Amino acid sequence: MCGIVGYVGNQQAAPILLEGLSKLEYRGYDSAGVAIYDGDKIIVEKCKGRLSVLSERLQGGLKINGTLGIGHTRWATHGAPSDVNSHPHINKDGKIAVVHNGIIENYLKIKDFLIKKGYTFVSDTDTEVIAHLADYYYNGNILDTVINVINKLEGSYALGIICKDNPGEFVAVRKDSPLIIGLSDDGNFAASDIPAVLPYTRSIYILEDDEIVILSRDSVTVYNTEKEIVPKEVFNVDWDVHAAEKGGHEHFMFKEIMEQPKAIRDTISTRIKEGKINLDDFKLTPEYIKDIDNVYIVACGSAYHVGVVGKYIIEKLARIHVDVDLASEFRYRAPIITDKTLIIVISQSGETADTIAALREGKKRGARVLSVVNVVGSTISRESDDVIYTWAGPEIAVATTKAYSTQLSVMYLIASYFAQEKKLLCENDVNRIINTMLQLPSYMENIIENKDNIQYFASKHYNSKDIFFIGRGVDYAVALEGSLKLKEISYIHSEAYAAGELKHGTISLIEDGTLVVALATQEALFEKMVSNIKEVKARGANVIAVVKESNKEIERVADSVIYLPDCDDLISPSLAVLPLQLFAYYVAVMRGCDVDKPRNLAKSVTVE
Ligand code: AGP
Repeated sequence: MCGIVGYVGNQQAAPILLEGLSKLEYRGYDSAGVAIYDGDKIIVEKCKGRLSVLSERLQGGLKINGTLGIGHTRWATHGAPSDVNSHPHINKDGKIAVVHNGIIENYLKIKDFLIKKGYTFVSDTDTEVIAHLADYYYNGNILDTVINVINKLEGSYALGIICKDNPGEFVAVRKDSPLIIGLSDDGNFAASDIPAVLPYTRSIYILEDDEIVILSRDSVTVYNTEKEIVPKEVFNVDWDVHAAEKGGHEHFMFKEIMEQPKAIRDTISTRIKEGKINLDDFKLTPEYIKDIDNVYIVACGSAYHVGVVGKYIIEKLARIHVDVDLASEFRYRAPIITDKTLIIVISQSGETADTIAALREGKKRGARVLSVVNVVGSTISRESDDVIYTWAGPEIAVATTKAYSTQLSVMYLIASYFAQEKKLLCENDVNRIINTMLQLPSYMENIIENKDNIQYFASKHYNSKDIFFIGRGVDYAVALEGSLKLKEISYIHSEAYAAGELKHGTISLIEDGTLVVALATQEALFEKMVSNIKEVKARGANVIAVVKESNKEIERVADSVIYLPDCDDLISPSLAVLPLQLFAYYVAVMRGCDVDKPRNLAKSVTVE
């Protein structure tokens, strides 16, 4: 996600901003920019591309003098990566400059309001509305102005704001997107994350939501939205820089597992409005949706596993036939495609060579392509007819977790939206599904709170030679993902099997002590799963079952049990995958593996 740095003090701001932004590069970005007050006016320098491109334009920071400034690295959500979409954004007379991390969910409504007031926009971003709204409310008092602005905003935002009339200070605001304040004798800082200020200070304030900070060279004052001063305790950072980039966690993978509730909240919140699923991301009309006679879901690896879940859910809710294909197979299969065929392409990176090739093959044969992608402006997003972005933020660890989970949530949205548009769901059904999805983040937080239980299981099994994952229905799809997670980071051989299929051959591999993880969240299939668990136990297996918390019967058949919060069967994959991600993570750590960069693997497989 985006990175923000702000500075006011005795030193030249530009070099400090560039240095701070370089410490935030790990967050992933596609453009960068700064706004600096040079004693007379605010100068903005911003561009698409790496920070090095901006630094060259700024001659390493020597080009612009000034001791007050804000900087930004952008991870695109609204509007492709480009110079004009880069931050900072300014108001019409250049008096106010803004940088933003987060998503303004009601930006279109605000944009319409401002256009009616005569404002013009130059970018496709949600952030630009903040600069013009500040202009609209500006009354000479920057604190009043900012409070009026944020009272209109819905969504998540960390902001940095400078105003030409207040040359000795800048404003920082936090709501749902992280922001910290760095305190030093040489000046004061605001930043999205601790690494950006560590070269200058280890004394920081960690901001809470709805706190507004006025920073000057010699003072930092924190206010709430009632303009009351909020006392803050100084937090002394004892992390090293490297650890700080991971938010204090040992690995990016663990950090990204922890980020899943927020990633899902960000991905679904703007797509559920007034009690309805609202996918304004794509232009599929209700008539088109009613006419779809077949859906192909095409992807690789974990994204393919999302597609397997998607098949079950779309067929169950929207009553449309779905084929799920590995991209590397689809393109050589001579698939049957008509003008009523929809291809859903799923990809975190949007650059996977096999998936791009499959997309092109499908388009060549006349299919319409809807992609689910995490990287704005990636090849797959640009070559699709429609795109639904997952707003997981940059995913650094090679083993995907938060991108996988947000892709799953988009599958629920698509299936429910199709069913809604085909009038297959009554209002109560839509409300039930929406409420379940909105509860997902808190269910996941509940599981994460009990992660020590998973760590215990990992400590018992990290020396296993073979580990099997079995399940039926959507649990089988989750078994596929759990097995891949374990294999790719711990190097333990693992297989995922449809539980009903095991007895047709592979059960011959089950020996005394073989670990079998049995996913049994689907009520209608539970008795069948009990039989499959008994089959493997009869051959000596040690079984860890993953079930919903109300299901105590399982304790009679499984050796160990991982309980999930009770939830709708259809969304249980989003919960069941979490313990499997954590299990794979802890096993890999205990085996001393390179969790974030496993051997032989790349984050984006851009070769066929
Ligand atoms: C998943 O943990 C792997 N890193 C890999 O299977 C990945 O899902 C696959 O390569 C597809 O990548 P994409 O989502 O970027 O297309």
